[in-house]
Amino acid sequence: TEQNLILAFETSCDETSVSVVKNGTEILSNMIATQVKSHQRFGGVVPEVASRHHVEIITMLITEALEKAGVTYQDLDAVAVTKGPGLVGALLIGISAAKAVAMAYNLPLIGTNHIAGHIKAANLVDKVEYPALALVVSGGHTELVSMKTPSDYEIIGDTRDDAAGESYDKVGRVMGINYPAGKTIDEMAHQGSETFDFPRAMMKEDNYDFSFSGLKSAFINTVHHADQVGETLDKNDLATSFQSAVVEVLVHKTVKAIAEYQPKTFILAGGVAANQGLRQALTEAINQQFPDLKVIIPPLRLCGDNAAMIGAAAYQQFLDQDFSDMSLNAEPGLEF
Ligand code: KG4
Ligand code: ZN
Repeated sequence: TEQNLILAFETSCDETSVSVVKNGTEILSNMIATQVKSHQRFGGVVPEVASRHHVEIITMLITEALEKAGVTYQDLDAVAVTKGPGLVGALLIGISAAKAVAMAYNLPLIGTNHIAGHIKAANLVDKVEYPALALVVSGGHTELVSMKTPSDYEIIGDTRDDAAGESYDKVGRVMGINYPAGKTIDEMAHQGSETFDFPRAMMKEDNYDFSFSGLKSAFINTVHHADQVGETLDKNDLATSFQSAVVEVLVHKTVKAIAEYQPKTFILAGGVAANQGLRQALTEAINQQFPDLKVIIPPLRLCGDNAAMIGAAAYQQFLDQDFSDMSLNAEPGLEF
């Protein structure tokens, strides 16, 4: 039987990752070096710092990924790399490394969309039946994506301002929580009660778009007002009220999209897919309203940025012969 081995790179933001993926579904290795600590004192990702860290570590990660997978360069069938969206300088490090390997070993080069990667992480978990629908929620994206076939991505809904994870991080900063704040706020949310009435934006509008900046402002105003009048607010209650607003709009728009697009598989992906409140509310709503729908929510390590998801997405491109040449460039604002 034929086997396909792809060496994949992901350097779009603050994780450097190199992976070997077999047949688009099996992870042979998935090395991930996170830079979170270096960015924490700045309260967010600093592009220059990110690029520098990627350069420092990427060569070592290639060696480790091949060793862990038990393969050599000669065993590879293709090299894949995230071409966008992401930070241009960060993307370019992965692209340069991928080009070097492709050139040295005469391998086909595949430039992969980062969002497609988040979605295809589902292939590493279970078989996706098409048509499929995905909700991708992370620090940089909040998108509903419809797929009629494995190669066809259509963004049907997007955020008009902040991404869902970004709103967690911004609200976290106001409460003095270290970046990235999502996980901590999620934990706090389970210990409070919904005592604040925060806005749910765009619920009634006839589209699949989101907006989180109004919620963020309402949150910040509430905290600042309390500071001014010398009142102390319960942080857990703030977290519960905030999370409940975010989850409610995400679930509402997702359920509406499922009803219209009638997918066979629903995929929840991206860093915010780690959110316990979101996982619970979405699973419940889907089980109740679409009991036959297959739901794939990758494990936490495959929800955050990693190269295995890029290898999974690139495998479909390999089948489609969707290759790039050495002119492959970073596309920071890439859509699909
Ligand atoms: O996918 P990811 O690792 O990187 C991006 O591509 O952005 O997502 C990181 C984002 C951060 O904004 C972080 O606060 C958020 O995911 N996040 C969470 C949770 N865990 C991580 N947000 C809400 N609840 C969580 N449990
Ligand atoms: Zn991402």
